[in-house]
Amino acid sequence: MDNLFEKLKNWIRAFLLRVARKLRTDARKDPVVRESKSLFSREIKIPVFASLLFTVAALYCMLVIAFGLGWNVMVAMAIFITAIVSFFIAQTKNKEKVILEDNDAVVLMCLLFIIAVLTFQISREYVSPFLSPVAAFSLMAAMLLSSRIGILYTVSLSLFVALLNDMQFDIFLVMLCGGVVIVTNVQSICRRSDFINTGVKIAIANIAMTTMFYFLGSYGSSQFKYNLFYGALNGAFAIVLMLVFMPLFEKVFSRTTNIKLIELSDFNNLLLKRLMLEVPGTYHHSIMAADIAEQAANAINENSLLARVGAYYHDIGKLRNPQYFMENQISGHNPHDDLTPEMSKLILISHVKDGIVLARKYNVDNEIINIIGQHHGTTSMHVFYHRALESGPNANIENFRYSGPKPATKVAAIVMMADSCEAACRSIEDPTALRIKDAVEKIINNKFIDGQFSECPITLRDLEIIRDSMISTIMGIYHARIDYK
Ligand SMILES: [Fe+2]
Ligand SMILES: [Fe+2]
Repeated sequence: MDNLFEKLKNWIRAFLLRVARKLRTDARKDPVVRESKSLFSREIKIPVFASLLFTVAALYCMLVIAFGLGWNVMVAMAIFITAIVSFFIAQTKNKEKVILEDNDAVVLMCLLFIIAVLTFQISREYVSPFLSPVAAFSLMAAMLLSSRIGILYTVSLSLFVALLNDMQFDIFLVMLCGGVVIVTNVQSICRRSDFINTGVKIAIANIAMTTMFYFLGSYGSSQFKYNLFYGALNGAFAIVLMLVFMPLFEKVFSRTTNIKLIELSDFNNLLLKRLMLEVPGTYHHSIMAADIAEQAANAINENSLLARVGAYYHDIGKLRNPQYFMENQISGHNPHDDLTPEMSKLILISHVKDGIVLARKYNVDNEIINIIGQHHGTTSMHVFYHRALESGPNANIENFRYSGPKPATKVAAIVMMADSCEAACRSIEDPTALRIKDAVEKIINNKFIDGQFSECPITLRDLEIIRDSMISTIMGIYHARIDYK
């Protein structure tokens, strides 16, 4: 019996030791391992049509209940809902394709609208219609979805609110102005503390509009004070709602806002810190590429912050085998000299896949992960293809391409160009203005001819503007070394 007990004890000790050893190795491999699974997106997929149908039905029921059951009310509300939905579809069908094709984004869009109408009903019933958070929900839609959808929310929600508030024009105009003022300034909101400015702006807009209606004789003195108070309080209410709902929606629906991008661009962030300490060559290349990408995105009115942060992270996959990438070969020894071209190709391709895996582990947002995955598109590795040709004429260029996908957005295309232009210009020994211009033009033309932009909505005019911007930014970076000839 004693012998059996001793055996069992030894077995448990060996098992625990093995587990401890395994945990220690895993921790050494990845100090921060957090799955970036959003609570919603990868678990449940609600079809776009079902979300829209549910929202329309819910809103219709809310309106019918508010106005009282009756066939005339039901027909009137059906006309109203049809008008709003048609307006929404007409404005988003072509211009917001990316959002409409994303199930999670559509669920979020519907949910925001329903919560906004419900919150209005509660505030109207128990406090005042002037407390209605139209501006707060419009801003959330603008930040989490797009500015266009934010404006559509402002107009539609103001109409809803006015209709539910006995069709009063003053409440429509007050809500519309508050929403428009905020949504048109959405790009200036980069930190959570900016929500306070936003709340103040909403309060000022509401006070201004309420005062206007007072001077037009719409309210008596006591009604004016009442509306003024709740109009101002609406600003504070908006701050609370945004602080509560924004982080929740960002997390649950995996949406990337400017606030999230600012957080991701912080160099205290563990992944960027690792890049800085473990692969300084790639880190420096990424910083330069980020400057180039940011200016180019600005030039064509794309999200420059997304371009900057995308470029910071585009090569994080090089953390795995840094010595195989030129910018990290300080000793001058190139390990590819000891490998076959096929092997070198596999190592290069793997930095894209490793980047995606690492970004997911460190909870980096999907938009950045897409940029990492698309930053080489299906471009070819000419150096290794030519090396393969030296060993035999049967080498095929198609076998020496990255596995893609190609850039799907203008920002991803910009990061791709910035990456290549930075790497090419860095290797120019004597960088004259002419050489930089030639290198940038050649890179952009070759990528275009190679069909790398066939899956993103970039135009020839955009490419011209991007080219000029990249030339001037790179000249600015290397200005101390440039001989202008
Ligand atoms: Fe890369
Ligand atoms: Fe790169």
